[in-house]
Amino acid sequence: GIKIATIGGGSSYTPELVEGLIKRYNELPVRELWLVDVEAGKEKLEIVGNLAKRMIEEAGLPIEVHLTLDRKVALKDADFVTTQFRVGLLDARAKDERIPLKYGVLGQETNGPGGLFKGLRTIPVILDICKDMEDLCPKAWLINFTNPAGMVTEAVLRYSNIKKVVGLCNVPIGMEMGIAKLLDVDHSRIRIDFAGLNHMVYGLDVYVDGVSVKEEVITKLSDPENSSFVKNIDGIGWEPEFIQSLNVLTCPYHMYYYKSKEMLDKAVENSKTEGTRAEVVQQLEEDLFELYKDKNLTIKPPQLEERGGAYYSDAAVRLITSIYNDKRDIQPVNTMNRGAIASIPDESAVEISCVITKDGPIPLAIGDLPVATRGLVQQIKSFERIAAEAAVTGDYNKAVLALTINPLTPSDAIAKQIVDEMMEAHKEYLPQF
Ligand code: G6P
Ligand code: MN
Repeated sequence: GIKIATIGGGSSYTPELVEGLIKRYNELPVRELWLVDVEAGKEKLEIVGNLAKRMIEEAGLPIEVHLTLDRKVALKDADFVTTQFRVGLLDARAKDERIPLKYGVLGQETNGPGGLFKGLRTIPVILDICKDMEDLCPKAWLINFTNPAGMVTEAVLRYSNIKKVVGLCNVPIGMEMGIAKLLDVDHSRIRIDFAGLNHMVYGLDVYVDGVSVKEEVITKLSDPENSSFVKNIDGIGWEPEFIQSLNVLTCPYHMYYYKSKEMLDKAVENSKTEGTRAEVVQQLEEDLFELYKDKNLTIKPPQLEERGGAYYSDAAVRLITSIYNDKRDIQPVNTMNRGAIASIPDESAVEISCVITKDGPIPLAIGDLPVATRGLVQQIKSFERIAAEAAVTGDYNKAVLALTINPLTPSDAIAKQIVDEMMEAHKEYLPQF
């Protein structure tokens, strides 16, 4: 049977994953699910782990759920390792989102300074996990959900010996689901040709039953109601002149780049009223864990869908199922470019529609991105590379460089001030500096 090890198993998202495993059990006979967490997450692990056990029991499936703080035991002979951990927990995220606002820069967990610092905290940990995998489960696939997923995948590809890595995000599947709803068709009839980077992915075309409906969908993206497909980003709609001449589908995170001013104003405003997203999520999490404690609860509670990671389980389990069964269906994932996007280095991570085989994802080559999107994608890729290098080497100057070249940062001087304050705020999680 299959053994899955989930790092960050105490996450409030674990019931998503478990629901996915239950739904696809007939194609993916999992024998053991090992949920691992660190000491600080012990209580959450206990609560969510017990819910996972009840969900599986209710489904009547022979999946053993093991809870542990010992990563090595969990990794031993695993077939799939999934990662969904958050270094420094939501407190660290709140700092990523708040500190930049003081300098007039967007505070967001995967973009700008927040993305940089989340990467600096996370990359050493993921590389450590990769080392453990080399010893304990060298044949396993690493399915990484930990953000910033693009930068993390880039770091694993460049700085570890683990080649069987796939980075995963729920944004593409969220776009498919959202567009299916907009067009009032079943999501199985929708296909989108995805290409770009994580949280910077474009839909180059979109089809219903193989017929392009791009024009219709693009027109609808001007409506604020239809311009975001995730709960954590409030879309504010696109100018029709802009979106129609761009002529590709944007992802929700593009709002931060093509509507920087409005999104920054909104983030500042929110920080003064409801709080930053991390602060809102802290409350949501408290409520979720209260629910999870209820011994009568044996399903994923619908409240979990208030989180930005909706459909996470579908994305994760459909990927694992297709690798396991060599399905050769098409799914959007983060993988090594290998020439699929001409203007991105071959060895870099891209988020792109791939054929999913037992040997992993094979990207569908697109030639190049439309000229209007190309520069931004290259710039973000350069940001991710330099940030990953800073994370691995502990080179302070490289951290300043990474932030300065990020399109959301107005100057080198401001970049340096933000880096200094954030280095201090996060110092317990940045031993490399
Ligand atoms: C998205 C992203 C995830 C991110 C999540 C945040 O949809 O794809 O990478 O972790 O939203 O959601 P949250 O509820 O934590 O703000
Ligand atoms: Mn994501």
